[in-house]
Amino acid sequence: MSEENLVYIQHDELRQLFKDKLMHAGMPEKYADKVAELMIFADARGIHSHGAVRLQYYAERTAKGGFNLEPQIEFEQTGPSTAIYHADNTLGHYAAYHAMEEAIRMAEENGIAAVGVKEMGHSGAIGYYVKMAAEKGLVALSVCQSDPMVVPFGGSKPYFGTNPIAFGAPRENGAPIVFDMATTVQAWGKILDARSKNHSIPDTWAVDDKGEPTTDPYKVSALLPVAGPKGYGLMMMVDILSGSLLGLPFGQHVTSMYEDYSQYRRLGQFHLVINPSYFGDEKQFLEQMNQMVNELHDIEPAQGFDQVYYPGEIQEDVVKKYEKSGIPIPESIYDYMKSDKIY
Ligand code: NAI
Repeated sequence: MSEENLVYIQHDELRQLFKDKLMHAGMPEKYADKVAELMIFADARGIHSHGAVRLQYYAERTAKGGFNLEPQIEFEQTGPSTAIYHADNTLGHYAAYHAMEEAIRMAEENGIAAVGVKEMGHSGAIGYYVKMAAEKGLVALSVCQSDPMVVPFGGSKPYFGTNPIAFGAPRENGAPIVFDMATTVQAWGKILDARSKNHSIPDTWAVDDKGEPTTDPYKVSALLPVAGPKGYGLMMMVDILSGSLLGLPFGQHVTSMYEDYSQYRRLGQFHLVINPSYFGDEKQFLEQMNQMVNELHDIEPAQGFDQVYYPGEIQEDVVKKYEKSGIPIPESIYDYMKSDKIY
């Protein structure tokens, strides 16, 4: 898509447009607020796969009954450092956010916290949750299930999801380290983004229904794991931590995002939060994080690169850029937001 097809919108206005559409679809404000916040987080960081491009999906699923909008949420502490957040199939963004708040509190009190989020909807760009912890001086890992659309290494049919991994660590000065990746070469949202922009995709991202590499985002039938057997192993690890550990559907039994919009998805997420002060000198740890980033910055870039970035740094640069320009949104999505249409 060319630049002319992009509309630049300021954060507050875009957030309100997201909220208005979700509430128009029947989502109560407290959930719409969190979903909008997570979508803004993604778009503002240039993670367009998890921003505005998902709005219609959340609105349609809301209208069709695919989220529990009156959930009986229960926070069950199962040990000094362990808990389950029973989300009762409400919005994943809301559930994962509140579960992380609890995990932060527990790690501050007890040094470490492992909180499973059980039965929720899609929770967006999960770097958001580890960033919450890192901004409080904590180290965090978060992983979640996603629909089975990835061929296992050596296989021709999908089994695991794009099962993302996010890791966050604080820094003394400056934005925290936020490493946030799908365990596929690319997230499914990047295929959606390519579709919305009429772009082709590299042949290393995905396969068609015959298991052959494709460059046409409309022909994508399954995605490929990152780094072959290693990404495949990582997505299995994610599924075990955020699915099987919580007694949830696993692997190919995980529900599909796009198949039946009226069904609850029963997804799982797992937050692990570590308080550095329980493992060593907190100040020294923060200083070391700074030193690490500084030393990485000092490394001479290889040919074709402008500098070495720490994970999340490129996204922080995008945040600053969009603060001035507004956030770019494909015109078709802007028109949808301005319309009365839900789906
Ligand atoms: P990506 O490939 O754009 O980035 C992955 C990581 O690499 C980021 O931490 C980024 O900061 C870092 N990075 C990128 N270029 C870099 C460079 N030149 N130097 C240093 N670090 C660099 O992310 P990906 O895999 O496309 O994931 C996008 C989003 O999709 C994530 O926010 C993820 O949480 C989300 N996702 C969510 C799912 C869900 O079901 N909730 C499923 C799959 C993905």
